[in-house]
Amino acid sequence: MMDDGNAARYPTLRCIVIDREKTSLPPPPPPSTVGATIPHNENSTRAYAKRFRVFAFREFLLRTYFRPSSLSSSGGGNDGAAVVLDVAGGNGHLSWILRNADGINSIVVDPVRPKHDRLIKSMNFLIDHPDEAALRSVEGLPTHQPLARLMPSLIENCERRDDRGRPIMTSPSYMRIRVDSKLVAMLRKVIVDGPSSGGDDALRSWDAYWYNESVNSANVPEEDGKSFALSDDSQICDSRRALEVFRSVDLIVGFHPDQATEAIIDMALLLRVPFAVVPCCVFPSEFPERTLGGKRVRIYSELVEYLRTKHDGIRTTTLPFIATEFARKLVMYMLMEDFK
Ligand SMILES: C[S@@+](CC[C@H](N)C(=O)[O-])C[C@H]1O[C@@H](n2cnc3c(N)ncnc32)[C@H](O)[C@@H]1O
Repeated sequence: MMDDGNAARYPTLRCIVIDREKTSLPPPPPPSTVGATIPHNENSTRAYAKRFRVFAFREFLLRTYFRPSSLSSSGGGNDGAAVVLDVAGGNGHLSWILRNADGINSIVVDPVRPKHDRLIKSMNFLIDHPDEAALRSVEGLPTHQPLARLMPSLIENCERRDDRGRPIMTSPSYMRIRVDSKLVAMLRKVIVDGPSSGGDDALRSWDAYWYNESVNSANVPEEDGKSFALSDDSQICDSRRALEVFRSVDLIVGFHPDQATEAIIDMALLLRVPFAVVPCCVFPSEFPERTLGGKRVRIYSELVEYLRTKHDGIRTTTLPFIATEFARKLVMYMLMEDFK
C-alpha cells in the first residue's frame, strides 16, 4: 500500500468490504420510488447519457472488488489503503467519485490532465437546489442524475468546507504518462526482475524513462523564458513516487481506455493484480502486430477475442446501459482468485 498521508481515510484491503454506513453504495430505494428504480439489475439496460456511463462502471467496481475476499488475497499487503489505478481516466470523473464518495484512493494515469470543474459545478448546483437534487436522485425517472444519488456520501465524507459552508472536494492524485508496452517493459525490469536486472541500474533507467515520458513541469521546455506551471499538488511527478504507486497498486481499471486497453491487461498480469477494463476502439493501424488465428485484429469483436487469449481467468460481463459503437459496455476483468 502507498501512504500518501490520507491512508486512514480510504478502505483498506481488509475493509475493501465497503460498508453501506460509510460509503455511497446506493441505499435501498425509498418506498415511493420502488418500481421506478433498477438497483443493481444487470439484466436491465439504461440509456445512460455519455457523461453518466462511468457511474455504471463505478457500481460494477464497488460490487465486484470492494467486498470481503474480493481483493483480500492481494499480494499488496494489508495495512494501508487500497490503491486503484484509473488508466486513461481522461477528465478523471471516475477517480473523483471513487475518492470523494467512496473514500477509495483512485489515481488517474493519462497523458491528459484531469479536470473536475464540471463535476464540482454540478455538485454545487445540487447542494444549492435540494428539491431538485432529491428529484434527480430517483433512478428510473428521465430526470435521474447519478451524481444526485451520491450527494449524501459526498457531503458526509468531505472534511473541508468553503466560506458558504459547501463541501470542498479532494482532487484525486494523477500521473501524466502513457500506459503502453514501453511502460510495461520498464515495470517488468524495475519491479518484477528487480535486482536480477541490475538493481540500481534498473532504478536509474526507470528514472530516465519517467523523466522522458511523463508530462510534468520538470520536463516541459520553457516558453518565452517562463516555465509552464504544469503540475499541482495532486500530480505525481517524482519518478520514485510514481514507482511506489505501481508497486503498491491493488486494482487497475480502464473505462473506454482507447490505446491503453491492451497495456492495462498486460500491466495487471505482470503485477498480478486484478483488473477491469471496458474496451472501446481498436486502432488497427496503431497495433499492426496484433493477430488472431494468423489474421490481423481489425474489429472490436476480434480485439475482445485477442485480449481474452491473454489469460484463461479473464471473465466478462456487461454494464447496464445501451451499447453503441461508441458506448461499448463489455467489461473484461479478473479477480485475485483468477490468478491461481
Ligand atoms: C475515450 S477517453 C475515455 C476517458 C475516460 N476513461 C472516460 O470514460 O471518460 C480515452 C482516454 O484515453 C487516454 N489515452 C489514450 N491512450 C492512452 C495511453 N496509452 N495511456 C493512458 N491514457 C491513454 C486519452 O488521453 C483519453 O483521455
